[in-house]
Formats: sequence, structure tokens, C-alpha cells
Amino acid sequence: MKKIAILASGSGSNAENIVNYFESNSDVEISIILSNKKDAFVLERAKKLNIPSQSFTRKDFYETDTIVDLLVEMQIDLVVLAGFLWLAPHSLIQAFPNRIVNIHPALLPNYGGKGMYGMNVHNAVINNKEKESGITIHLVNEKYDDGKTILQTKCQINKNDTAEDLANEIHKLEYEYFPRAIASYLNQL
Ligand code: GAR
Repeated sequence: MKKIAILASGSGSNAENIVNYFESNSDVEISIILSNKKDAFVLERAKKLNIPSQSFTRKDFYETDTIVDLLVEMQIDLVVLAGFLWLAPHSLIQAFPNRIVNIHPALLPNYGGKGMYGMNVHNAVINNKEKESGITIHLVNEKYDDGKTILQTKCQINKNDTAEDLANEIHKLEYEYFPRAIASYLNQL
């Protein structure tokens, strides 16, 4: 049995999609969903999905080993960042080498780095009149959006597409590819 912890900061539609994808797979368990925001909608989703969940503070994450210790104690195999907006601290990366994956809603290395998340990314892509965008699933290191790429896939942008249209297209790609990329990466661990 492989155990996954999901970290998310906001709505958590990817988190829910990952839970649903693995629901019928007895080899994989989504053991916990953690959020750095105590009122994040992802925590509501966790409750509804019957997944243990908890929020944590900046102090828990950066000044103590509360979260790392919890994940180690739970014997988590893979940490999945699904719309998680804080930089992973050194202690977490050290405790889970090559075992933290993130999804980014653009074709890294373009449109990555600090401040590049969610709609900020899609607004920048549309403002620059790009013809394509996509998603990048990658391992996490100590810089924003910088670790080894596991999977990238693209979508075309039409002339009149808004940032909202692009966000919808990107979410579709995320729902289709993220759980599958997690499953195949888990098989290599
Ligand atoms: C997703 O599009 C994800 O790629 C993005 O946040 C969204 C979260 O949506 N992540 C980043 O921008 C990370 N830099 P969700 O909460 O509905 O899953």
C-alpha cells in the first residue's frame, strides 16, 4: 500500500479529482489532506470525501518540524502539491527526497517562479498573446517551479480566449493527467 499526502491552498478541485481517481485502487491511499489556510475549500472537500484533514500555520511549516514529523510518522510515500502556494522548506525536501510532486498550470520554465500561480499565470499567458500553454508536473526542490519535469502536455490558445477560458482548459488537462502521472510515478518508487 502506497500512501499519499496532498497539500493544497485553495479550492482543491485537483485534490478531489485525485481522491476519486484512486478510490477504487486498494494499492494507494490518500492518507491526509493538509492546507495552509484554515478556511480553504479543500478542507470542506476532504470532509465530504472522508479523508483526514488538517490546517497548519506558517510557524508549523517553517519554524518547527510539526508537518514533516506528521508525514514521516504516517509513513507517507509521496507528497502531492495540488494548488499549494508556499515554498517547500528544506526539512520537507530532505525528509522526502524525490518524493514531492507539484503541478504547475503552464509550460515551465515559462511562467513559473514566485507569484506565478493560478490566474496570475493565465493572465500573463493571455496578455503575452501566447499561442499555447499547458501543464507541468514536476519534482519539487527548494526553488519555486524548478525540479525535474515528470510530464508536460499542451493546449492551444484561440485568438479570443480569455484567461478564464484558458484556466478551464488547463483544469481539464490537470484532471486528466495529474492522477495518471502520480500513479505511474508511484510505480517507480
Ligand atoms: C491548479 O490549476 C494548479 O495547477 C495551480 O493552482 C490551481 C489549483 O486549483 N497551481 C499553481 O499555480 C502552483 N504554482 P484547484 O485548487 O482547483 O486544484
